[in-house]
Amino acid sequence: MNIVVAQSGGPTCAINASLLGVFRHATKYEEIGTVYGSVNGIEGLILDNLVNLCDIIADDEDVELIRQTPSTVLGSCRYKLPDFKADRTVFETITANLKKYGIGAFFYIGGNDSMDTVMKLDDYFKANNIDIKAIGIPKTIDNDLPITDHTPGFGSAAKYVATTMQEIIRDSSVYSSKSVTIVEIMGRDTGWLTASSAVLRQNGEVAPHLIYLPEAPFSVKKFLSDVREAQQKHYAVIVAVSEGVSLDADDFQSGKVDNFGHKYLSGVGKALEKIVSQEIGCKVRSIELNVMQRCSSHLSSKRDITEAERIGGAAVKTALDGFSGRMMVYKRVRNHPYNMRIEHVDVREVANKVKYFPLEWINETQNNVTNDAIEYCMPLIQGEQNFIMKNGLPKHYVLRFALSHDKRKGKIE
Ligand code: F6P
Repeated sequence: MNIVVAQSGGPTCAINASLLGVFRHATKYEEIGTVYGSVNGIEGLILDNLVNLCDIIADDEDVELIRQTPSTVLGSCRYKLPDFKADRTVFETITANLKKYGIGAFFYIGGNDSMDTVMKLDDYFKANNIDIKAIGIPKTIDNDLPITDHTPGFGSAAKYVATTMQEIIRDSSVYSSKSVTIVEIMGRDTGWLTASSAVLRQNGEVAPHLIYLPEAPFSVKKFLSDVREAQQKHYAVIVAVSEGVSLDADDFQSGKVDNFGHKYLSGVGKALEKIVSQEIGCKVRSIELNVMQRCSSHLSSKRDITEAERIGGAAVKTALDGFSGRMMVYKRVRNHPYNMRIEHVDVREVANKVKYFPLEWINETQNNVTNDAIEYCMPLIQGEQNFIMKNGLPKHYVLRFALSHDKRKGKIE
């Protein structure tokens, strides 16, 4: 049989490593012929836009470059499949294309929304006696997928967040006058990534002095009182705030949503900056780490990249063992020395579900995290990658195969 792999949802530094894991592992099996890649996630299977990965990954240098390139070499999407009982059309198109390429297994690297796609395809295949396996490979910097100990991509994002936070702390602490610096960190409805900034404590940093996660209630009044209290001890107060924290007045956001109904979150740092400026009046600056936290591969965690490749390979074995409708998961065995194993679970236990940051890891005053968060994150940020450089810059692997607007029109939008 042939197989196809696709990438979906928000990019990470590790999602290409999982693609490599699928490709490199698949090429070891005699049962597997061609390994295809679907361009822009499931959209490629709807629009018949597949590429042969053997053409793309031709030699060892391609492997190295893809591993060190952030984002998704095959492009991505936020496409939501309907319920096949309500509308089978798109399922029939996908199945026809899968059959056209002789595909026996579909691997989808993505987050909770992408697992919805794996679940729906698996439901459709099983209901119609179609022998095609659908396997989910987790990824997201948000670390919000249930069951898996952590998600590929999180460790690298956490390493970037902590490193950048440390640099911001140095920069913001040079003056003898009072200041507040607010750093906005991604993570949607969960605070895992924001909490990871606390790992700096392991190296003796006191900042960020205040850490706010969406899991804890937030009030502007309490925030201002926390900042004033921190200013009693520190001239330069550093705040880490999750993009998903909702203020009492929510109107700073655009209100736009993606196909899965998720709000485009951005701006909480700026909104708090205005509030501090008006109410406290000292120097205040907000910094939105924005997409840098999911694409700064120069600061990626080697452990994250290595694990991401392993979990991609394990997914291939899972399909060959006859499983379908499964998502691969990490199970942490121990922290000292760190060890984990890879298993798989029913994708229905993960699709559209969220794993929140544990409330018991938030301190009593709900403005910081306990050492449990540090213990959890530390193993995941370990190790540095060696990079192939070009003209003093990390070299990236770039494919250009965007479909023309005309070909997509009426089918995807
Ligand atoms: O995929 C996770 C994530 O990076 C979130 O942290 C963020 O809120 C969201 O994606 C942004 O989505 P988009 O890439 O569609 O702007």
